[in-house]
Amino acid sequence: MTKQEAENKIISFRKKLSYHNHNYYVLSKPTISDYDYDMMLKELEALEKEYPEFNDLNSPTLRVGSDKDNTFTQVKHEYPMLSLGNTYNFEELSDFDNRIKKLIGENTPYKYACELKYDGTAISIKYKKGKFFQAITRGDGTQGDDVSENVRTIRSIPLQLQGNNFPDYFEIRGEIIMPHKIFSELNKEREDIGEQTFANPRNAASGSIKMKNSAEVAKRKLDAFLYILLGENLPSDSHIENLNIAKTWGFKISDNKKLANNINEVFDFINYWDKERKNLPYDIDGIVIKVDSKNLQDELGFTGKSPRWAISYKFKAERVASKLISIDYQVGRTGAITPVANLEPIQLAGTTVKRASLHNADIIKELDIRINDTVFVEKGGEIIPKIVAVDKDNRSIFSEPTKYITHCPKCKTKLKREEGEAKHYCPNEFTCPPQIKGKMEHFVSRKAMDINCGEATINALFNAGHLKNISDFYILESKQILELEGFKEKSVANLLESIEQSKKTPFERVLFALGIRFVGSTVAKLLAKNFKTIENIEKASIEELIKVDEIGERIAKSVFSFFRDERNIKIIYNLKNAGLQFKSEKIEGETDILKGKKIVISGTFEKHSRNDLKKMIEQNAGKNTSSVSKSTDYFLAGDKVGPSKLEKVEKFKIPIISENDFLKMINK
Ligand code: IVH
Repeated sequence: MTKQEAENKIISFRKKLSYHNHNYYVLSKPTISDYDYDMMLKELEALEKEYPEFNDLNSPTLRVGSDKDNTFTQVKHEYPMLSLGNTYNFEELSDFDNRIKKLIGENTPYKYACELKYDGTAISIKYKKGKFFQAITRGDGTQGDDVSENVRTIRSIPLQLQGNNFPDYFEIRGEIIMPHKIFSELNKEREDIGEQTFANPRNAASGSIKMKNSAEVAKRKLDAFLYILLGENLPSDSHIENLNIAKTWGFKISDNKKLANNINEVFDFINYWDKERKNLPYDIDGIVIKVDSKNLQDELGFTGKSPRWAISYKFKAERVASKLISIDYQVGRTGAITPVANLEPIQLAGTTVKRASLHNADIIKELDIRINDTVFVEKGGEIIPKIVAVDKDNRSIFSEPTKYITHCPKCKTKLKREEGEAKHYCPNEFTCPPQIKGKMEHFVSRKAMDINCGEATINALFNAGHLKNISDFYILESKQILELEGFKEKSVANLLESIEQSKKTPFERVLFALGIRFVGSTVAKLLAKNFKTIENIEKASIEELIKVDEIGERIAKSVFSFFRDERNIKIIYNLKNAGLQFKSEKIEGETDILKGKKIVISGTFEKHSRNDLKKMIEQNAGKNTSSVSKSTDYFLAGDKVGPSKLEKVEKFKIPIISENDFLKMINK
């Protein structure tokens, strides 16, 4: 392939990938299978590696982020990032409308753009010649952090615009959000492995966008809605028209907006979304109302920190009073204690609320919540109701501050609290019933062993003494299950079959299923990939564990101590005997022949493409690196090897091998 051909190919792949990406993440209408997308991406990656001269920060291959630590530099905003004045009722909105009329003159026609007020974190993105240039957080409104690398990982934000009618240079602003589904998955995973959870999707979004490692940001699956364009040569005087045009450039611009002819139509929009917002897959906390004409906006200008031409209407978080009857203390599978308030049942946002989480001892102290107190419960955009205040004036003079428990409510073991951790926990891992049952529920869950066994069945089998730990699933007998209420021959056979099938679960999922603290599915995958067998993980020192990218001291210590406990070793022994997978499956053709060897490929080859050669190196446990250094083990040379590379090869005396030598090496 000539250089020109390579460049054309790279450009064409980038275009195609960006087209499919837009269809999937912005329009939600996929036009390619995940597999084909990944294959195309891999091909592009290989070409980019071979021809680094065509590197582009906006290549779709960089959407996965990088492991290198980000440093955020402060950048001054070209247009300050202002906030909006808030209103809470229609009267205040009418006042706003009257102010506008007065300022622009009674006879000047005007319209309002009505939009959803997304509850996330604001971002300002600059585009130069149709390419993503820089993304800055709001900061203090005057200057913010350059988080470009992290924002590039958000799939719904275009890196290359479509069409050609966009200004040479402009800014677009919007809100980075975390949809409910992603938020609950993230919190579940965090809770599951013993990490502190995020209070709401907004905190999760703003926390994620400031993470140092952009590869981690990519995994957070953030999304973004854009809602305002700034610049010199915008296509239209109408704000809403500009948004609609920006949509054709590839931006994610919501259809849930309206051009209102008067304030009454604004009220209609608000009334509609006040009801409808509970059906959205993300949080909104109100409606934003903007004078639509840019000229009028300029004429109206700003007061202090907010524009005169826009205002927000905040939805009232529904708040109701109830009474605190008692506090339960729940014990999770990692032993973490969560206090839960039992309330007098009340109706809130269409559901009956009887319980609310109190999170931890600090929250109880902060609220100073006491038994029999009148409490106020709210459900805003958030999913879980929360106690937001306590009526301290009306409490009995005999009421006493809540004393946080000191011992596990289930097994009576003294609770512990690690420095820097919000939650207390019960250290009695092996005989505290909710911890054992929790571990079993985790073990059978879909992402782990995927055994078709619900909470009630686990409970019944545990109470009957047939399940003492996770390895007992594999010695269950049909008559033991048949004893349980609701089980018949057929359902017993189904459960046993599901247990039998689970023996084929790949190693990485078995490792996740073991329920080691801080080992989520991503960490389990890394451990399986790097150590290959459970014996290797068991033997590994804390230092060896930390050597794996993304595994820090906290995880390493947790893994290390897990394998130093005889009880865990015994469970693993039993699981091994039952036939579970405790080593990474060898994929056909995979060997360890090139283990630890770094190989640089250069030039063109007769029998295989460079991409194929790269795959072969990896299949045989070697590493393909792009530049020659002292630590390179072999230089795999074809025709037309780059002279600068060759110079280095000679300097470092690196063995040169041909395509045939290489194939012989790997027995092909
Ligand atoms: S327009 C000068 N439109 O709300 C006004 N803001 O309280 C620029 N927000 O900082 C903002 N949805 O973070 C605008 N459709 C929307 C919005 C929106 C959410 C956020 C944004 C802004 C804050 C103002």
